[in-house]
Amino acid sequence: MGYWFEDPILRNLAPLALSTSIRGLSTIFGTPRIFVGTNVLPSGPPIGPTTMDALAPRCVAKRAFVVTDEFNQRYAPKLTAFLESGGFTCSVWDQTLPEAPMENVSDCAAEMAAFEPDMIVALGGGSVMDLAKAAWLLYERPDIEDLGMVSPLEPLNLRQKAFLVAVPTTSGTGSECTGAAVLTDSAAHRKVPIAHAELVPDVAILEPEFTLTVPPALTAGTGLDVLAHAMDAVTTPAANDYTLPLALRAVEMVFEWLPKAYQDGGDREARHRMMIASNIAGIAFGMSGCHLTHSFGHALGAVFEMHHGLAVGFFIPHTLQFCQTVTDKHLLICKALDIPASDPGQGLENLVARVREFLISLEVPLALKDFGIGPEEFEEKLPQLVEFAHGDIDGFFSPRPITAAQCEMVMRYAYEGKDIDF
Ligand SMILES: [Fe+2]
Repeated sequence: MGYWFEDPILRNLAPLALSTSIRGLSTIFGTPRIFVGTNVLPSGPPIGPTTMDALAPRCVAKRAFVVTDEFNQRYAPKLTAFLESGGFTCSVWDQTLPEAPMENVSDCAAEMAAFEPDMIVALGGGSVMDLAKAAWLLYERPDIEDLGMVSPLEPLNLRQKAFLVAVPTTSGTGSECTGAAVLTDSAAHRKVPIAHAELVPDVAILEPEFTLTVPPALTAGTGLDVLAHAMDAVTTPAANDYTLPLALRAVEMVFEWLPKAYQDGGDREARHRMMIASNIAGIAFGMSGCHLTHSFGHALGAVFEMHHGLAVGFFIPHTLQFCQTVTDKHLLICKALDIPASDPGQGLENLVARVREFLISLEVPLALKDFGIGPEEFEEKLPQLVEFAHGDIDGFFSPRPITAAQCEMVMRYAYEGKDIDF
């Protein structure tokens, strides 16, 4: 079975099409309508305009299909009560599995087709939002037989039957604002990213109260995902005048608010700010891409079954160091964080030290060997790590192209916790 991102023409065209010189001059700033705050799903009579004004007028049948999972279905009553107050009939499907396996997507799409909704609502973390996007795609386009071959360059003509609303319950993936969805091809044991501008949700509802019970380790992991998105979105050549300020602001916000949310999950302001940080980082990388933190992190996550955010956050220092031979855009991050940088080299050193301190404060090891991965297991799985990292689509957006041999060196250095010096 092939995947759209293995098409050699696309692989060669993508970096060119997304380069600053082209996209910086011609870009589409596509975002959902975003509602944020603790009153976005009001339970009482509304005072003034509400979220409902963005939903109800778009629906004739007013049939809402809510996609969620076993954990997040606890938030469904608040959501459905709100929707029912606006005249919606709701169906809640809570069977989403972690990492959105393809067969799980098909099951959801079949239920959707039976219910015939005119609004799809994703209520959950990254897996739920990604699965909802893919199931909605199959609901709209039952003629599509292979999700892995959906090309970002061909029109899909979605929104003939329903539109998409995303309600995140973690502050991490930013999937509520991106056209990306990462699925799992269980048969091939592979992650399959799909990406299309038409998959960007129509409405994003950010209710920070839903994140209050996220435990500390997951708060750290999801927060580091935000940081990896934001930092990559600054240093990628595809960054532009729209995405850069959002990415830099997200970096500032993560450094300020993630430690507070990690220390005290009930800190409402910290949760609120992290939800916004996640969202604006999502808008930035959704349009400009993230790069090697995610190529390395996807490989690590797949091979050692590590949480996505933890895996990509771990690789922030390595990515900054690897890219410094071709870009000094890390100086923008130094400036945002008020980190001394008398020259690019000094700035990089100080920035990497700051990121490492940050990782330590979140109890994240700085070497792969400290994750409990023994040397023999590492050597045995290294070829697969290298294959996945080198083949990962996010490498398209790296300022410095990477070879398989360099991927192997990065992994070896990361295992020992050494500075990347090549
Ligand atoms: Fe991510």
